Amino acid sequence: MGAIITAKQIFKAYSDLQVLKGVDITIEESEIISIVGASGAGKTTLLQILGTLDKPDYKDETQLLINNTAINQLSDKDLAKFRNTNIGFIFQFHQLLPEFTALENVCIPAFINKTPKAEAEKRAKEILTYLGLSERIDHKPNSMSGGEQQRVAVARALINNPKIIFADEPSGNLDSESAEQLHQLFFKLREEFKQTFVIVTHNQELAAMADRKLTMVDGKIMS
Ligand SMILES: Nc1ncnc2c1ncn2[C@@H]1O[C@H](COP(=O)(O)OP(=O)(O)OP(=O)(O)O)[C@@H](O)[C@H]1O
Ligand SMILES: [Mg+2]
Repeated sequence: MGAIITAKQIFKAYSDLQVLKGVDITIEESEIISIVGASGAGKTTLLQILGTLDKPDYKDETQLLINNTAINQLSDKDLAKFRNTNIGFIFQFHQLLPEFTALENVCIPAFINKTPKAEAEKRAKEILTYLGLSERIDHKPNSMSGGEQQRVAVARALINNPKIIFADEPSGNLDSESAEQLHQLFFKLREEFKQTFVIVTHNQELAAMADRKLTMVDGKIMS
């Protein structure tokens, strides 16, 4: 076991708004980290950068290593492949495609990875069943509850067996019981599959359950 994410001196500005002001963060394999902080502190911006969806403003002292890979040295094509293989995302609003069934939505990242259809569907069914959704496999998002939709989004994040899952307000849109179930699920998945979770949340209970709770204030992690 060692660090799965090493980020040093991460800066990000949007025109003249300096959002991240030198974030240092090291995350160990299989850790569950929560990130809390006021609205506008830069949590989503940081998560998007750690998740390789966005790029930091590189300075001499900036470092971003994920799963032993220097992110700034990857071509766009390699970066997309790296992301799809190593990283899963769960957002506040599930972002499932409305025209597709639960099974189809979950299979999409596997298809992007060129996994054969039969194999992708087999694995998607296993995960959906594991998440208690075996009766919902052929349902489209609008015929599922919020908690069910969010579990489909979790299944989609898991399909390629990524090492790291980033979640941005994953339970922000759920009632307290569905939120509680989702939070338990993260810990169950970590027990079983040793994944690393980085979770941005306003939910104090979830934040406190994590191995480490980091607080962002004005573009920096408070120590
Ligand atoms: N694409 C963008 N262009 C310009 N400004 C942006 C952009 N994305 C974020 N910002 C600004 O950067 C700051 C930090 O935003 P960010 O979304 O990271 O905050 P946050 O901590 O996630 O807040 P919340 O808890 O409300 O989600 C905010 O002032 C926001 O308006
Ligand atoms: Mg945010």
